[in-house]
Amino acid sequence: MPSAKNITAASDLIFRSRPLVIGHRGFCAIAPENTLPSFALAMKAGADLIELDYRHSKDGVPMVIHDATLDRTTNARKLWKRKHIKVANKTATEIQMLDSGNWFDAKFAGAKIPRLTEALDFICGNGAVALIERKSGDAKTLAKLLREQNWICPTVVISFDWKFLRELHELEPDLILGALGPPARLSNGKKPTHLRRGLSARLNDIAKTGASVVVWNRHISKRAIRLAHQRKLKIWIYTISHPPITRRLLNCGVDGIITNDAGLFADKERISRL
Ligand code: G3P
Ligand code: CA
Repeated sequence: MPSAKNITAASDLIFRSRPLVIGHRGFCAIAPENTLPSFALAMKAGADLIELDYRHSKDGVPMVIHDATLDRTTNARKLWKRKHIKVANKTATEIQMLDSGNWFDAKFAGAKIPRLTEALDFICGNGAVALIERKSGDAKTLAKLLREQNWICPTVVISFDWKFLRELHELEPDLILGALGPPARLSNGKKPTHLRRGLSARLNDIAKTGASVVVWNRHISKRAIRLAHQRKLKIWIYTISHPPITRRLLNCGVDGIITNDAGLFADKERISRL
């Protein structure tokens, strides 16, 4: 558990007036995503928040991995001689037998899929703020984990599932939440066609989640940003690694950029030495 003096409060950070750099899955441009080495490099590069994804294992343990299956970012296929093995079909112990670094570069061989508790210990214990994206798992388990380990203060939780956010907000009203959008599908099962108008039309729904932050894609209008700001919502955009697009979005008034390049605003020479 991090000591109180080490902790950075998410509430202090997100209400700063300068734009925030948020390391997507750590520093996934130069390290295997969602691993401790990736988080370490993002922190070294000066990212304000470290984003990670989690989903539940077969035995209900929150594990830090983006995909529902183990194929892309581990050696599961080689080890267990089967394709498309789901995270939800293996226990935490089994998942931690896998190598999740070598697929990216042999120099990261031996990196493991962290449990969410290990990742937060590492990120928050080193004085950084974690941006936790819930891919699967119930609100009660996450609320209990964050409460018991004292991680309500140095974390922000985001999800595309706004019902999950509402439940989490009821359980932990002090936890800072972000509503991720636009939804991949509308409730009628169709793809959204008017992405630019999407956010303005959904601000009332977002208010019901208890979120203080909107996490949206680059197809956002200046009007939507203005309307969200009038409601005191912060706007973070995913996933941008291209400086000209970053500049355009910052000129439009967004408050944070989620990026594969956690050193987006940093001196590139320093980053190349990390
Ligand atoms: O943080 C938002 C972004 O990470 C959502 O997309 O697929 O990268 O988790 P994805
Ligand atoms: Ca994510």
